[in-house]
Amino acid sequence: MSQSPESQPAPQPKNPERLELEALTALQPGFARLMPEIGARMWRAFHAGRAENWPLATWQLKEMRKLFRLGTVTRPKYESDVETYIDEDLDPLFAACEKGDLEAFERAFHDSVEAANEYHRRWNKGFLVWKVPQTPPEDLVLEPQS
Ligand code: HEM
Repeated sequence: MSQSPESQPAPQPKNPERLELEALTALQPGFARLMPEIGARMWRAFHAGRAENWPLATWQLKEMRKLFRLGTVTRPKYESDVETYIDEDLDPLFAACEKGDLEAFERAFHDSVEAANEYHRRWNKGFLVWKVPQTPPEDLVLEPQS
């Protein structure tokens, strides 16, 4: 666009050096931002479990549990469901990893995916049906390390 010599370009807003607490609060992730990360952890846990890499599966599930609890800081309305999900669905997965029981792990995994999608329906997000990607993640060595 051409400019006459006397007209100055409008000053652009500068990147802020500090943000007010309200702006910082608004920037914290809610469930829509955390759920894809949760899904990635769950996917990794599944393939680590299938490879009987129990330390890796446990690690992924622990990080997933942290993400769920992080989400309830900004979205406390989900706290009760999240804690129920942890007790009823994640704990059996941790127990199967602890025992190194692949059959129990696969059963608990299937149940926990069903439960997750039930929570989606409960929160009026029945169109969000999560499923585990059948392809193992390519950026992680799944074989147990000594
Ligand atoms: C295995 C466990 C779970 C997985 C893998 C999972 C996965 C996902 C995924 C991929 C999304 C879509 C995010 C997007 O792209 O917008 C989503 C959304 C959502 N999930 Fe989950 N979910 C799980 C468990 C749960 C549980 C236990 C709850 C309830 C406490 C829950 C509540 C929600 C809600 C409310 C949304 C919609 C977020 C929004 O758009 O505001 N999910 N979930």
